Amino acid sequence: MRIDLFHMERTQCLYENEVEYNLSESGVEPMRVDELLEGSSSPDWLRQAPLKYPPSRGSDTLRDRIAQFYGRGATRDHVMVTNGGSEANYVAFWGLLEKGDRAAIMIPNYMQGWGLARAYGGHADPFRLIERRESGRGRWALDIGSLERSITRRTKVILVTNPNNPTGAILTGEEMESIVHAARSTGAWIVSDEVYRGAEVSGTTSATFWGRHDKVLITAGLSKAFGLPGLRTGWILGPPKMIARLCSYHDYLTLTPSYLSNRFAEIVMEPARRESILERTRRILRSNLPRLERWVRTHDDIFSFIPPLAGAIALVRYRLPIGSVALFEKLRLERSVLITPGAHFGIGRFIRIGYGGDVDHLEAGLARIDLTLADLRHSTTPRSSARRRGAHRRARQAAAG
Ligand SMILES: Cc1ncc(COP(=O)(O)O)c(C=O)c1O
Repeated sequence: MRIDLFHMERTQCLYENEVEYNLSESGVEPMRVDELLEGSSSPDWLRQAPLKYPPSRGSDTLRDRIAQFYGRGATRDHVMVTNGGSEANYVAFWGLLEKGDRAAIMIPNYMQGWGLARAYGGHADPFRLIERRESGRGRWALDIGSLERSITRRTKVILVTNPNNPTGAILTGEEMESIVHAARSTGAWIVSDEVYRGAEVSGTTSATFWGRHDKVLITAGLSKAFGLPGLRTGWILGPPKMIARLCSYHDYLTLTPSYLSNRFAEIVMEPARRESILERTRRILRSNLPRLERWVRTHDDIFSFIPPLAGAIALVRYRLPIGSVALFEKLRLERSVLITPGAHFGIGRFIRIGYGGDVDHLEAGLARIDLTLADLRHSTTPRSSARRRGAHRRARQAAAG
């Protein structure tokens, strides 16, 4: 079976450890094992842990705690644990789509669902989030017209990523209802990737699609909002009959989660602990985002920006005569900085910058980007050579500092 290249993941795999400044991450600084074990009376359990298979769907305790995160009647029978959110998405699309089925997919997006829909069904139809100015502020809003156009008789799945990657947007209640309405009109499943839920800058956990429609699968995990990508813990929440069916697909894949990850995930999802971990994430976002915003404002002439409502990711629109992949390559090769180009999310002249890591590292990486922006500016705008030299000098000083 042929499958599209998953450009974003492939380039990250190739280059994230090759550059000095990796600003392509979408999560916060990962937690360490000792932070997770804090307050645990005796971490002896870790030394004594048998490295056996855990229950194939994940332990009862873990599934109970995941169900509690969603409420609205969710129980352990509605949950299967997977290896990462990406495996959750993979199993969901594999289990839902037959050849000839179509999937309506929110764009911009993490393009895993797009590639899977084209591979398993054959067709992916985009609907869009668009920039809208409302009472002086910008927001990424659901384009209802494009949603309606993307739905056909053969639409089997509607994929939303909420909160969204790469915009950091959160759907309003009304927008969620429009998606539910579209799903009902054609009998489609909603697959809602909620891996960033819990990482809201405001501190208020965003609404879930769980409980809004009977044919809903939530995919999520610990990699983003919880800052624990190395546990490779994800999950699918859905009606028990569909979960049982998807387990039979998982039997052909990785069978079970990892035993140790399952144990750590039980600790993470204990309700009080879960909330304190999410608060850690939000603290990092609130402390780093203003630094990034300040940098964006110093480039008002070429950048425009709708601040993210969730996730350690910021999508910046630029006005320069260079495509986003060419800009990404230039930054990687000339400045040893990795960002993510808009093209990898299905949109044009944007770059996504991850701001959840160490803030000094972030600022040093941004200063490197300044060097390239200064080059591009003076190669495209008629400025005096003195101003040009000044911009260059300032960028170099900042990069050196
Ligand atoms: C929306 C979305 N879903 C899923 C994933 C993959 O998650 P995991 O690392 O848990 O496999 C990502 C990773 O960037 C993502 O952005």
